[in-house]
Amino acid sequence: MLTDTHCHLTCDELYDHYEELLENAQKADVDLIMIMATNKEEYLRALEIKEKYPDRIKVAFGWFPGDAQKITQEDLDYLRQEALSKRMDVLGEIGLDYYWDKSFKEEQKALFKAQIEIANEANLPISIHMREASQDTLELLALSKTPIIFHCFSGSLPIMKEALKMNSLISFAGPITYKNNKQGPTNVEACPLNRLLSETDAPYLSPVPKRGKRNEPAYVTFTVDKIAQLKGLPKEEVVQQIRKNFLSLFETH
Ligand code: NI
Repeated sequence: MLTDTHCHLTCDELYDHYEELLENAQKADVDLIMIMATNKEEYLRALEIKEKYPDRIKVAFGWFPGDAQKITQEDLDYLRQEALSKRMDVLGEIGLDYYWDKSFKEEQKALFKAQIEIANEANLPISIHMREASQDTLELLALSKTPIIFHCFSGSLPIMKEALKMNSLISFAGPITYKNNKQGPTNVEACPLNRLLSETDAPYLSPVPKRGKRNEPAYVTFTVDKIAQLKGLPKEEVVQQIRKNFLSLFETH
């Protein structure tokens, strides 16, 4: 039973077909999926799906770093209210992204810090988006008192080692299957199996052999194939350990 720990099932692109995508997932033996919501509408949709399929769905909600200039105090208050309600399972994806735009670093940092504080208060794990911002991200994460998921990890090996010193899990997505990606496979090999997660980040980042197509939760199986191959372990062992790692986030809460 495979786990997709990060997909945007309720974004406009996927939401219209979500029933079909969940069916495809089940056929591919993917029966635990965390939906990532980046706005209120996606969040309310995700809660509805979770209500329908409580055993198969987890919900994460957080304000994305790229939106830092738009997010108001009212938005933060809403997130805090929902975090404290425990209707959501994880707070995220949150973090820093200097790849797309470096012009509002301070706003990104302030938003990230405010959300770490909400997660601490609500005792919720956090999902981290970190792109070309490793040093600043790790620095702010020292404030976190709850477990951390490094989503679609793409940093260097030294950064991964720093990340592993925290109470964290490292999640890998489709790019580890790409021919020209050397760093991803190196990181998978170096990441202890009991600290590792699988994800799609659908609709983005489809793994080989679906690269270039719209991604969906069912395709996490190809990423797990690659992880098993890199680890030299039977797929079933990897699948079971990933499930255990992911569920461990919720046991302590
Ligand atoms: Ni994402």
